[in-house]
Amino acid sequence: MTTFLRENRDTIIIGAGGHARVLQSSLEAMGLVVLGAVEKIGVAAAPGGTLEILGDEMRLSEDLSTEWLAIGVGAVPSKDTTGLHVRRSIYETQVSQRRDRLVSVIDPTAIIRGAVEIGHAVQILAGVTIQTGTRIGNNTVANTGCCIDHDCDIGNHTFVGPGAVLCGSVAVGEGCFIGANATVLPGISIGRNAVIAAGSTVVQDVPPDGYNPR
Ligand SMILES: CC(C)(COP(=O)(O)OP(=O)(O)OC[C@H]1O[C@@H](n2cnc3c(N)ncnc32)[C@H](O)[C@@H]1OP(=O)(O)O)[C@@H](O)C(=O)NCCC(=O)NCCS
Repeated sequence: MTTFLRENRDTIIIGAGGHARVLQSSLEAMGLVVLGAVEKIGVAAAPGGTLEILGDEMRLSEDLSTEWLAIGVGAVPSKDTTGLHVRRSIYETQVSQRRDRLVSVIDPTAIIRGAVEIGHAVQILAGVTIQTGTRIGNNTVANTGCCIDHDCDIGNHTFVGPGAVLCGSVAVGEGCFIGANATVLPGISIGRNAVIAAGSTVVQDVPPDGYNPR
């Protein structure tokens, strides 16, 4: 897990939409200082609140070089695609260039119990519960209030939406989108890049690139 308690607490969010503002509040609750956001070219911004727009992403290669970074682009799913490719490409670019600047966001209100393995640059937001024996992959988001129960295995670059419930021993592949308030029954496997609709219940395994409900 990324260590964030360094002398420099200045942080910049990449992306300036709703997810960025949610991250801002968690980062500030962690005691980091959010300088603002850089807009991701081609991704709609949603200005509001107190998140200052510092320019576009090109600024990262100019004068911003010592700050922590957090990926503020969320998901835009449809039945055919998770819409997570932009998040993933930002992560891969940052890792190839300067991995140690991506910060994990773990909201102080999250409850993480027992032996939980947390990857690089994860985002565990307000009110999330993660139970013992679970592994969370790199660049994965556990969004507001979701519950990932015991012994789950969540792959890299996956997005678990607000209020979703993953019962015990669920396996979720890389790059999946799990919609708000979805429920995944115990022991289910969800293949890579699958889309789980908001509010749906997953009662049988979902193949790679699959969709629930069928
Ligand atoms: C599943 C989802 C990705 C589909 O998006 P889409 O491809 O744009 O789907 P559409 O709105 O065109 O709907 C296509 C069909 O699926 C149905 N559908 C859409 N969402 C559904 C859902 N959550 N559950 C069940 N059926 C759904 C629609 O009624 C429609 O049915 P029809 O063809 O019989 O008319 C989207 O509806 C969804 O659930 N998004 C998750 C949002 C979310 O949780 N965001 C969290 C962000 S923080």
